[in-house]
Amino acid sequence: PQQSNWHVWTEEHVRSTFHKRFAGAHKGTFGTGLLLAGTDEMPGSSLLAAKGAIKSGIGKLTIGTTRFVSGILAGQLPEAMYKHDGLEAVGEGDVPNGIKACAIGPGLTDQKKTDRALEHLFAAELQLVIDAGALKRRTYPKRKGSVILTPHPGEFSRMIDVSASQIQKNRFHYALSYAEEQGVIVILKGRYTVLAFPDGCLLVNPTGNAGLAKGGTGDTLTGMLLAFLCSEKDVKSAIANAVYFHGASADSWAQKNAERGMLASDVSENLPFVMKSFE
Ligand code: APR
Ligand code: MG
Repeated sequence: PQQSNWHVWTEEHVRSTFHKRFAGAHKGTFGTGLLLAGTDEMPGSSLLAAKGAIKSGIGKLTIGTTRFVSGILAGQLPEAMYKHDGLEAVGEGDVPNGIKACAIGPGLTDQKKTDRALEHLFAAELQLVIDAGALKRRTYPKRKGSVILTPHPGEFSRMIDVSASQIQKNRFHYALSYAEEQGVIVILKGRYTVLAFPDGCLLVNPTGNAGLAKGGTGDTLTGMLLAFLCSEKDVKSAIANAVYFHGASADSWAQKNAERGMLASDVSENLPFVMKSFE
C-alpha cells in the first residue's frame, strides 16, 4: 500500500473505544434504527440483518419490509417493530421520525423503488448504511449524516467499473480513492476488510475466517453496523468495532466448531459472549 496513514484496527483499539452500557441507560440512549430489507423471495436477509442489530444492542428497531415478510419475521423477532411496505412508504417521503440510522439493501431487488427511497433518505438527517441490492454506480449528494457503503468485491466492481480481480490486487487504493472522491465511507468486505474514510484514513480489520464465506453473513454485518451507529457517538470507531466484532464472533465460534458449519445467525447468537470480554 502506498498510503501512509493506514493501520490495523486492533483489539486495543476496540478496548479503548467500546464501553459497557451505563446503569442509568434507557432504550432511547441507544437509538432507533430503520432497516429496509427483505422481499418475498429473500425474506431471510431482513431476519439476519435484524438479528445482527438486536444482538448488538440497538435501542429500538423498525423493520420496513413487505407485509408477507413482516408476517414471517414477527413471530421470530418480537423485539422489533414493523413498517409495512416500508421501502414504498419511504419512497413516498414517509421517513419515520426519530430515526438515528438507516440500513438499506439486504434482499432488495427493485432498483426503482430502492432509488426512490434513497432520495428521501439522503435528504434526511440520519446515518445511512447502503448494502447489497441498494449498491450501484451512482454519485452521492452532500448531506448531514455519513453514507457508509458495504460492497463485497463483486459489488464494488459494478460500482466503479473495475474488475473484481483488479480491485483485489489493490484494495486500499480503490477503496480510498472512491471514499475521497465521493465523500463516503467504503467498507470493502472480504478477508481483511478495508474501511476507507473521506478524510484519507484507512483501517484494516484483522478478524474473521472462511466460515463467513457463506450467504447471509454480510446481512448480519449490515444489521450490526446499524446498531453500532445508533448506539455510539463516534462514527469511525462505531463501524470499525462492528466489523471487528462480526469477525471476532466468527473466530470465537470456530474455536469449538468447524468453520464450514457456521451460520450467519450463529455469528449473531455468539456476539454477546464475545462482547462480554470487552466490557
Ligand atoms: N475471511 C474473513 N471474512 C470473510 C471471508 C473470509 N474468508 N469471507 C467472507 N467474509 C466476510 C466478509 O468480509 C463479509 O463481512 O463475510 C461477509 C460476507 O458478506 P457478503 O459478501 O455481503 O455476503 P452475503 O451475506 O451473502 O450477501 C447477501 O447480498 O452482497 C449481496 O450478492 C450478495 O445477494 C447476496 C446478499
Ligand atoms: Mg451482501
